[in-house]
Amino acid sequence: METQVLPFTDDSIAEAGRLILAGEPVAVPTETVYGLAADATNAEAVARIYEAKGRPSFNPLIVHVPDLAAAQRIGEFRDDALELAHQHWPGPLTLVVRLRAGAGIASIVTAGLPTVGLRVPDHPAMQALLGASGRPLAAPSANASGSISPTRAEHVLRSLGGRIPLVIDGGAARRGIESTIVGATGGPLRLLRRGPIEIDAEAASGAGIESPGQMASHYAPSKPLRLRAEAAEPDEYLIGFGVIDGDANLSPGGDLVEAASRLFDLLHSADASPKARIAVAPVPDAGLGAAINDRLRRAAHRA
Ligand code: TXA
Ligand code: MG
Repeated sequence: METQVLPFTDDSIAEAGRLILAGEPVAVPTETVYGLAADATNAEAVARIYEAKGRPSFNPLIVHVPDLAAAQRIGEFRDDALELAHQHWPGPLTLVVRLRAGAGIASIVTAGLPTVGLRVPDHPAMQALLGASGRPLAAPSANASGSISPTRAEHVLRSLGGRIPLVIDGGAARRGIESTIVGATGGPLRLLRRGPIEIDAEAASGAGIESPGQMASHYAPSKPLRLRAEAAEPDEYLIGFGVIDGDANLSPGGDLVEAASRLFDLLHSADASPKARIAVAPVPDAGLGAAINDRLRRAAHRA
């Protein structure tokens, strides 16, 4: 794939909007770092973010929206969260709140959690792309897994060149570090990631900093889970892959983007089924399969 780099103009944003609606990820500047954005309502589009980044595990992603009203259609805001939103949006603050039922956010975006990280960015390019696409945009930093966050279009190109169709060049990202993340989902506000916005000690009191990869923020099914199953035992709900069919199938055709896009939905289905245990067919470890297997292994050990 050839990666185009286009300056931030009406025309490049229109092209980026078309790509987003076609299910492709696009790199776009925000005021913190460049993000790799995809339609948060399209699970396969979001799976392509992971494919492009080569990320070996699924983390919940931040959903970018144009304004607070759009955020409130997706998440439930308590008064303390609303107050922070009024104070700091648009800006480098992400609020983790309860996800509204029926909000249309793909389960791969929240990595299966009942909560969602929301941010109203303060950058004209990201705002223009939100307008052009009309979709909430899931966007982690636009770098390959393991490399540092990009603050210029050329950093994105160096890291993801050949793996994404388009980078919008909006110059240097002003802040250069990722947004502050605050959780408002139960109990007091919690500071989940430090960033450009200082949240006062009182607001964050009682908070331990949770590092991004930490497990409290990760969904796992409540039932025992068996890996690399060729067939189901009588009390197992089998999640199939490819020719190993089960109660459900991650991807009958063996497509890893499709499998990643369905992973959390099927884990939830398995959890909700009357069967006491879950089994999952072997998934190859290549490409996105590594992230799928990482999540499955964690789920297997947790139970
Ligand atoms: O500045 C930023 O926030 C950049 C730009 C592109 O907006 N984005 C960014 O995304 O840093 P990312 O994917 O690197 O950070 C996502 C982190 C997760 O690792 C997790 O710590 C937190 O946000 N997060 C998102 N949703 C969450 C949730 N439902 N529960 C707990 N943590 C969540
Ligand atoms: Mg990152």
